Amino acid sequence: MYRIVTKRTLAPNVKMFNIEAPAVARKARPGQFIILRINERGERIPLTIVDSSPKDGTITLIVQEVGKTTQKLGTMKEGDEIADIVGPLGTPSKIKKYGQVVVIGGGVGIAEAYPEAKALKEAGNRVISIIGARNKDLLILEEEMRQVSDELHITTDDGSKGRKGFVTDVLKDLIGQREIDHVTAIGPTIMMKVVSEVTRPHGIETFVNLNPIMLDGTGMCGVCRVTVGGETKFACFDGPTFDGHLVDFDELMARQRIYLDEEQLSMERFEKQGN
Ligand code: FAD
Ligand code: FES
Ligand code: MG
Repeated sequence: MYRIVTKRTLAPNVKMFNIEAPAVARKARPGQFIILRINERGERIPLTIVDSSPKDGTITLIVQEVGKTTQKLGTMKEGDEIADIVGPLGTPSKIKKYGQVVVIGGGVGIAEAYPEAKALKEAGNRVISIIGARNKDLLILEEEMRQVSDELHITTDDGSKGRKGFVTDVLKDLIGQREIDHVTAIGPTIMMKVVSEVTRPHGIETFVNLNPIMLDGTGMCGVCRVTVGGETKFACFDGPTFDGHLVDFDELMARQRIYLDEEQLSMERFEKQGN
């Protein structure tokens, strides 16, 4: 069992958990994730390891409540126990000294961008971060991102904080003004697609972290397959980080919606019966 040590609300429907998982905490590297099951009847869901403390034996997860399992996780309290946590899974991100890098986080993707920005900074890069959300209440980890960035830009769709518009508006301006050696973008699939389209004509290497539906997380079931450079890849094993210029984003977006009817039913049952 994996005990929830601390729980904090970061934004409406976004919760941060520190969870006792010493074996995972010892090995976790940026870009990796865990798969958890709340209880023995629960489904398996992947979540990024946002941070880890080998000393305390804990990992940090940040969860946006979008459906049944994430909502149920959101109701759990400090001291409660999660039945299974498997990890760290996935191939760690390629962190090296590129020079000047841009790290982009959109929505809850900011949680996933944070360990990347931190590691890129520690590797000696000049880190320009761009974080964006629909409005200021949904913007998470601003201070944490500021601490690991040389420059931080903020956008909101409604202009309630930072620049009104999208993360890609800032990216376009930066590319026009500076030498950018590498971009890492994590967030909604459509955001990662647009970022990749913006950098493609400039030949700027762009990494994205894909989030297809996952089940076993070890390359056995094939449910997380994505097409990258015309080849089938398993995001849980070969990724989740891939070259954004090679990803078939339209196929990914279609596959993410495959179980919408079942997910809706499961949510309705959870709202009526609590399970
Ligand atoms: P549902 O209503 O069941 O599903 C809502 C949507 O979530 C679906 O339409 C589908 O696109 C996606 N989804 C559903 N089941 C799965 C599944 N088993 N695997 C992947 N996606 C699924 N979310 C966070 O809030 N924080 C994170 O740090 C985070 N990291 C992730 C890392 C990876 C590698 C991947 C693949 C996904 C990550 N996600 C993260 C997304 C998270 O796994 C889904 O939001 C969650 O599984 C939804 O479950 P649900 O039952 O609450 O919602
Ligand atoms: Fe089963 Fe990737 S989740 S192969
Ligand atoms: Mg679900």
